[in-house]
Amino acid sequence: MSAIESVLVENRVFPPSEAVVKAARVGGMDAYNALCKEAEDDFEGFWARHAKENLVWAKPFTQVLDESNKPFYRWFADGQLNASANCLDKHVGTPVENKTAIIFEADDGAVTKVTYKELLARVGQFANALKVSGVKKGDRVLVYMPMTVEGVIAMQACARIGATHSVVFGGFSAKALQERIIDGGAVAVITANYQMRGGKELPLKAIVDEALAMGGCESIQNVFVFERTATACAMVEGRDKTFTQILTGQSTDCPPEVVDAEHPLFVLYTSGSTGKPKGVQHATGGYLLWAKMTMDWTFDLKDSDVFWCTADIGWITGHTYVAYGPLAAGATQIIFEGVPTYPNAGRFWQMIEKHKCTIFYTAPTAIRSLIKASDTDEKVHPKNWDLSSLRILGSVGEPINPEAWMWYYRNVGAERCPIVDTFWQTETGGHMITPLPGATPLVPGSCTLPLPGIMAAIVDEAGNDMPNGSGGILVVKKPWPSMIRNIWGDPERFKKSYFPEELKGYYLAGDGAVRDAERGYFRITGRIDDVLNVSGHRMGTMEIESALVAKTDLVAEAAVVGRPDDLTGEAICAFVVLKRSLPEGDEAKAIAKELRDWVAKEIGPIAKPKDIRFGENLPKTRSGKIMRRLLRSLAKGEQITQDTSTLENPAILTQLDQTY
Ligand code: PRX
Repeated sequence: MSAIESVLVENRVFPPSEAVVKAARVGGMDAYNALCKEAEDDFEGFWARHAKENLVWAKPFTQVLDESNKPFYRWFADGQLNASANCLDKHVGTPVENKTAIIFEADDGAVTKVTYKELLARVGQFANALKVSGVKKGDRVLVYMPMTVEGVIAMQACARIGATHSVVFGGFSAKALQERIIDGGAVAVITANYQMRGGKELPLKAIVDEALAMGGCESIQNVFVFERTATACAMVEGRDKTFTQILTGQSTDCPPEVVDAEHPLFVLYTSGSTGKPKGVQHATGGYLLWAKMTMDWTFDLKDSDVFWCTADIGWITGHTYVAYGPLAAGATQIIFEGVPTYPNAGRFWQMIEKHKCTIFYTAPTAIRSLIKASDTDEKVHPKNWDLSSLRILGSVGEPINPEAWMWYYRNVGAERCPIVDTFWQTETGGHMITPLPGATPLVPGSCTLPLPGIMAAIVDEAGNDMPNGSGGILVVKKPWPSMIRNIWGDPERFKKSYFPEELKGYYLAGDGAVRDAERGYFRITGRIDDVLNVSGHRMGTMEIESALVAKTDLVAEAAVVGRPDDLTGEAICAFVVLKRSLPEGDEAKAIAKELRDWVAKEIGPIAKPKDIRFGENLPKTRSGKIMRRLLRSLAKGEQITQDTSTLENPAILTQLDQTY
């Protein structure tokens, strides 16, 4: 049975215990419904109340939502604030000041702790260093950093001086980095000499050098290099400076630069259905508001919690639930540099025990790989550790199959901890559809209900509501504060991608979904565009196709589709027509390897196709369109039910059946 089918017949329900309901911030469905009603009855009043209660404004807003230039919505537009002040300065003079903000565990297990007061000083010092180097309010700064305290400091320091950060995941290639530097017009890069992952020292600065050498990056004036390890790296005189060099002598006191609520806090690139990644632009006020509110609501955050989101700061989850949300909410959080399988697949459980983690938030792919590891090696099964500190578990980034959900619930949460299966996107800034741990009865594999204020719905292609039980297109009918504001430098693409005319002005998420008849719970059925979700990482099929055909000496044509995969959710399957004769056996294997390495260089190792298949040509319709549905069937190994009578060369179906 496929994951989606098994979700649709799922009938197990896990309501929160009475004790959990009693102790929760939003306790019980009545409390949830009351918040939803408040938002429905007085939408702007609801958001205004929360914006006043949750953020510190340098200048209070008088207008809540400006809809005068739809879909370029503006929230709290005449208000002013600073994001870093709302994460750090806000706690000065409160008991949070001396609380641990970050428990950092390095790849090798070394632990360092930083209090809020210390973090403020370090962010201030780094912000001053940026300023004296000439980085100004409104500039873009590219951050290419490992998971470290310094990564968060870099982001917070940008926010502090009003610079817009653009974080690029440390697994992306030099080419991807160069494209993002050019698209954003960044003035500086913040990076590290190396990153430590799984006991290995991997270069970062060398990749920055390679990117800058590709040309077009003349906007970059400075490269700041965190000395993560003692190994030297090449430094370019005049352009590159180490953290030690720029921080020495800098004051730790840097007054935050007040910005308009709509000032772009960051740009984060994500894959869309065309070849070029989109620079998703987020605004300061609305984004931060939702980061803070969802910490409180979705994670039911208490002062005593030890929160751990395992996402890298290179993804939206690491922005909202590492770099901003936990700090805005005054939480103690764990930041982990390494990988879940080093030194063994018990690392997460060992860390939960060691740091007495109470809220644990990770991705289904990680859970599935740890299930597999503990199936084969009892010693890394969670039962070997004391996980009794846990009270809430979370899941993010891709659908969680009910089997993995049940394992997580039983073996990690001891049937005690609610699982919040949070549906959201880079574009939404924070959670959209998720259970509330002290209210929502849980159904494995379902993200349940929208958060109060989020007007999510399922519609048909003309924007008409679909009845419960029928699948359709997931939309959000009203704007919300943390929504994407623009695609950096491409407002037309923004309008077309997210607010297509035929959908009545609703926000188009790009996912299909269905609500169940009994409770109206949402289930995400997967992307409806050409976007794949591999291990919770978003990849555009066109992006991978473009990378493949860029290998002009070898590749004539390529088509990429996804297929279900037990471990990674989806796997990338590439169908390739070569400029030479059809290869077989070892030769085909060698070419497949060459192509994978090529894609890793063009985009990053996460984009490497798992399956590569060669054909003399690709199956096309009479009008010359690639028959993608047929390719998807081939990739899955399904029987072909499509009409193939129009194929010029039916022999290719046999050729394309062979995976390398
Ligand atoms: O398809 C949905 C899936 O991930 C997409 C968003 O990817 P990205 O922008 O990289 O953000 C991931 C982290 C928020 C969505 O369009 N997705 C995300 N969360 C879930 C999910 N699918 C099912 N269930 C989820 N909880």
